[in-house]
Amino acid sequence: MLIKKAYSGRIKGMNEINSASSKEWLLFCRRFFHNPSCIGSVMPSSRFLARKMVRSVAWEQCGLIVELGAGTGSCTEYLLANKPQRTKVLVFEKDPVFRAQLAEKFTAVPLYDDAAQLAEILAAQGIRRVDCIMSGLPFAMFSDAERQAILAQIQRVLPRGGQFITFQYSPQMYRELCLKFSEVRIGFTFFNLPPAIIYSCRR
Ligand SMILES: C[S@@+](CC[C@H](N)C(=O)[O-])C[C@H]1O[C@@H](n2cnc3c(N)ncnc32)[C@H](O)[C@@H]1O
Repeated sequence: MLIKKAYSGRIKGMNEINSASSKEWLLFCRRFFHNPSCIGSVMPSSRFLARKMVRSVAWEQCGLIVELGAGTGSCTEYLLANKPQRTKVLVFEKDPVFRAQLAEKFTAVPLYDDAAQLAEILAAQGIRRVDCIMSGLPFAMFSDAERQAILAQIQRVLPRGGQFITFQYSPQMYRELCLKFSEVRIGFTFFNLPPAIIYSCRR
């Protein structure tokens, strides 16, 4: 009884930063222990981080936005709530359990699996370029080859001036992003577990 109370108190405390439900939080934790290098975090992003990511989008130039690594949809929810009506959203999520949950939550959003196949999957839909890519992918947990392959896919579909927005928990990606993009802006939020760096880049 006491343990249950302490446990639910802790989850309640987490929820002040993180708007995800306790059920979602537990699911995230379970999927992390199932495949840590793919999931990359024990809990979904906070609403503060999601808001900062979505605020970085240059909506006036954005007809099509692709989200990579949507997880349980913390950022997707903000994206859909804040995008102009004309902007189309496509979502990629590799974990099948998360994908099933996203399909249930966001019935009208086209869902795909592996971001490593980004350019091919989009080409099969007749899409050659996207205006903005918003990513929750845990690049720091990927092998060098995997990170390079996904960054190359992103470069293939982003035209010059296209936006790439990502969050990371360490500054490890900074140099690489500066080499690959013509502009890299940095933001932070401490209101996330762990605190996150937000990179807003232009190709
Ligand atoms: C750190 S979580 C972020 C989840 C969510 N965006 C959030 O902010 O709460 C990283 C997500 O990327 C997904 N992921 C990892 N590799 C992927 C890939 N190659 N293609 C698509 N999704 C991938 C994981 O399954 C996980 O849901």
